[in-house]
Amino acid sequence: MKTTIAEVKNYVGQEVTIGAWLANKRSSGKIAFLQLRDGTGFIQGVVEKSKVTEEVFKIAKSITQETSLYVTGTVRVDERSPFGYELSVTNLEIIHEAVDYPITPKEHGIEFLMDHRHLWLRSRRQHAIMKIRNEVIRATYEFFNDRGFVKIDPPILTGSAPEGTTELFHTKYFDEDAYLSQSGQLYMEAAAMALGKVFSFGPTFRAEKSKTRRHLIEFWMVEPEMAFYEFEDNLKLQEEYVSYLVQSVLKHCELELKRLERDTTKLELIKPPFPRITYDEAIQLLHEKGFNDIQWGDDFGAPHETAIAESFDKPVFITHYPTSLKPFYMQPDPNRPEVVLCADLIAPEGYGEIIGGSERIHDYELLKQRLEEHHLPLDAYKWYLELRQYGSVPHSGFGLGLERTVAWICGVDHVRETIPFPRLLNRLYP
Ligand code: 4AD
Repeated sequence: MKTTIAEVKNYVGQEVTIGAWLANKRSSGKIAFLQLRDGTGFIQGVVEKSKVTEEVFKIAKSITQETSLYVTGTVRVDERSPFGYELSVTNLEIIHEAVDYPITPKEHGIEFLMDHRHLWLRSRRQHAIMKIRNEVIRATYEFFNDRGFVKIDPPILTGSAPEGTTELFHTKYFDEDAYLSQSGQLYMEAAAMALGKVFSFGPTFRAEKSKTRRHLIEFWMVEPEMAFYEFEDNLKLQEEYVSYLVQSVLKHCELELKRLERDTTKLELIKPPFPRITYDEAIQLLHEKGFNDIQWGDDFGAPHETAIAESFDKPVFITHYPTSLKPFYMQPDPNRPEVVLCADLIAPEGYGEIIGGSERIHDYELLKQRLEEHHLPLDAYKWYLELRQYGSVPHSGFGLGLERTVAWICGVDHVRETIPFPRLLNRLYP
């Protein structure tokens, strides 16, 4: 019976064959322990000299790391193994021998591992992170589909820029100038006027010269946009969504969280409602914490966000930022136009901002004025302004950065491990 490691639980006491790679090996005298992986999981194969042919035992003793092989054996329950099962090996058949695999069980430097990302992905830790990333994506589709949202795919090649012009990747579109998308938001606003509640999930690009543990040049963003949603509705949806992601990972990725040694008691707390503070209160909190230099009108850096997050054990919304700090499309607070109806969601434990969102301006004249104040070319935004000319309605949306969210849920330090092939400052390879 040919099966996979994930499925061996259905074959206890039976003989199965698995296509696998050798992750690691230990042997002593008359017994060899093979750590096998097949992508679906990890399992130990035990080869006893007395139970196999001389030829098979010779293979077990000499097989090298990352050699691919077919392993045949009887499935046994094994309480001590983290996976719960073990294979009593009866036969080994090499498919392809790996010679001098570069990533050995010893410690390697990060640059070496990044250069070998195509192989590093095979490690247990990376396997766990990719499985959790996948669960976050799966739960995202489930969450929004269950609530009547329609998945919409905005373009990657664009003629206009939602988040300002400094961080754009410029390219040519035949004879015209074009940019790689920084955010699908403007298109999602058009889609929300057509379909009510929509969400996108796709790659976005920022030519940011930042070399921090939170910044990628290419990252994936989930962008919901909802017609008739006001500021408050938007925040409620965000706290429900983020809680859903965390609870889904806790439910479906127990083994992976354990492998990453994630403190899950912290994740269990992540349920609505989330605390909220205004930008003004955040400034005050920072002063109390000794950040005396920060003044009203300054943006927060990573140390500020971390200091604010320390006061809470759930993600915290920082709302009502100064209008001058935020993009042109955000709705000013009607009672206080110097601030906008926006919120950033800051993850606990120092993982930084995972969501940025706001209510959008739906008044034509005000939006036009804001575009002019930002010196943006009205021509390029003609279609976007038109959304405010034909049955404009209040609407809101947000963008969740997938990699920062995965980094936080996994408890890994740097976003570079949360995407299969990270694009970083000075790294476009492999
Ligand atoms: O706050 P941002 O720039 O918001 C937007 O782009 C809005 N147009 C979204 C919307 O309302 N539809 O980015 C949203 C999120 C951030 O909170 C962060 O999680 C992530 O995207 N992000 C990055 N992640 C990794 N590397 C970077 N360089 C990132 N820049 C933003």
